[in-house]
Amino acid sequence: MNRRKTLTQFLVEQQRLEHAMPAQLRLLIEVVARACKVIGHTVNKGAISGLLGSLEQENVQGEVQKKLDVISNDILLEANEWGGHLAAMASEEMDTLHPIPNRLPKGEYLLIYDPIDGSSNIDVNGIVGTIFSVVKAPESTAGREVIEADFLQPGRNQVAAGYAIYGPQTLLVLTVGTGVYVFSLDREMGSWVMTSERLTIPPETNEFAINMANERHWELPVRKYIDELMAGADGPRQRDFNMRWMGSMVGDVHRILTQGGVFLYPRDSRPRMENGKLRLMYEANPIAFLVEQAGGKATDGKSRILDIQPNSLHQRTGVALGSSQEIERLADMQYE
Ligand code: AHG
Ligand code: MN
Ligand code: MN
Repeated sequence: MNRRKTLTQFLVEQQRLEHAMPAQLRLLIEVVARACKVIGHTVNKGAISGLLGSLEQENVQGEVQKKLDVISNDILLEANEWGGHLAAMASEEMDTLHPIPNRLPKGEYLLIYDPIDGSSNIDVNGIVGTIFSVVKAPESTAGREVIEADFLQPGRNQVAAGYAIYGPQTLLVLTVGTGVYVFSLDREMGSWVMTSERLTIPPETNEFAINMANERHWELPVRKYIDELMAGADGPRQRDFNMRWMGSMVGDVHRILTQGGVFLYPRDSRPRMENGKLRLMYEANPIAFLVEQAGGKATDGKSRILDIQPNSLHQRTGVALGSSQEIERLADMQYE
């Protein structure tokens, strides 16, 4: 029988063979993956457990929180607090960072996450996911409390990133800087098993993902770029394009990592969208790391996302990522 490799096996091999994986990072990824199993199970229970719907409260970014946003945030917090692998955590659903309490052992890493991406899909049984990013805590944090500035590292410093996607199948998509690997949750066995390795995004594509309802708010280069795609075979691109929009970045990005495409959430002129909608630290950075590891490109429209120097935890950014030829075409539009 052709036995599939488990996540644990993969991580041990990375630690032994590729030196990509200190033991503490291996534990961290195992713990996050375990928490994602619990979140997946909780999402799956939905109305049976009374877990659909919103709470009467907003997060720090002024978005109404869903019950599952808060529950999933807590699942990740509790799972990661006591292992000794983290110095602190930060999440889209928490106002400020969460230091590991002094009564518990501390580790070298900082974990940054979006507990539920695509929250508006929860109540309609659409795709949702969990996105995570890992950087090392600066050495200067030894013996003192972690502060926000310790988190403000450019995305190129990430040592691991990934997402879990709770769809028809529950998957974990991971990079530790040695390519992108996909693990499927085998529910009978309770384990993550590798089902794809070294994903590559083809440089050419005929598919794009953008929320067209915002077109009138976009800046000119984005309008020009999308106009060309919409003109299809009758326009300068001389071929037809197809559009998809899932309302969950994880869903759209998974499609792109699987078969190519581009995803855009540009800055726009609506109030509070001048810097874009998506969050640099919780969403753009980890996804950009995965996309680059799969041979794609990830920019804010012009510049590489992984080179942006963050200046606050909840900072937003414009996002354009996926098949390299399209991202280059969009960047060219900025100068035409
Ligand atoms: P979140 O649920 O974490 O707030 O993220 C939602 C994001 C992203 O996943 C998705 O691509 C986008 O917001 C959807 O935005 P629209 O509401 O404009 O479709
Ligand atoms: Mn999100
Ligand atoms: Mn979210």
